[in-house]
Amino acid sequence: MTIQIIYTGTPAYEQMIDLRMEVLLNPIGIPKTYISPEKEKQDIFIAAFEDEKVVGCCILTPINEKSIQLRQMAVKQNIQHSGIGAAIIKFAESNAKERGFNNLFMHARDAVIPFYEKQGYQIDGEGFTEVNIPHHKMKKEL
Ligand SMILES: CC(C)(COP(=O)(O)OP(=O)(O)OC[C@H]1O[C@@H](n2cnc3c(N)ncnc32)[C@H](O)[C@@H]1OP(=O)(O)O)[C@@H](O)C(=O)NCCC(=O)NCCS
Repeated sequence: MTIQIIYTGTPAYEQMIDLRMEVLLNPIGIPKTYISPEKEKQDIFIAAFEDEKVVGCCILTPINEKSIQLRQMAVKQNIQHSGIGAAIIKFAESNAKERGFNNLFMHARDAVIPFYEKQGYQIDGEGFTEVNIPHHKMKKEL
């Protein structure tokens, strides 16, 4: 497994969109139009590859000089729980740190809070609903 930064307008980016649909959006009935390649042009795309196929991903969206948000964290269903998610988080943290960010946060679906806790994230504030699913903000100082 390798983890790399990828870019919009490439075959890897298209594969990443397919993975986001399959793992994150289709299961909750959100259409592909939710993903706007134009809006996320300035974001940082991280993809995990196995046999040249994208099997895991996340996006980093800078919020201000110090804070960066991790979004669209997903690992292909049949290979979840094999360490890929944790490796993607580690890669994202060091990349964010290299770029000068010192606070990484995400809107975590409540079902995966234990996953983020294992990576050292802490709940920040009250729960809220996003895409019809209960979430909590979680954060970590880098
Ligand atoms: C959440 C997700 C990204 C984790 O990726 P993964 O590759 O399966 O996670 P890892 O194998 O690296 O797991 C790391 C640790 O977290 C634990 N973990 C992973 N998912 C978990 C979950 N849903 N609940 C509790 N613990 C979990 C693992 O058991 C492992 O523990 P260990 O370090 O003690 O062995 C992946 O399961 C996924 O894509 N889920 C569906 C989409 C989703 O909900 N994304 C997050 C949106 S906020």
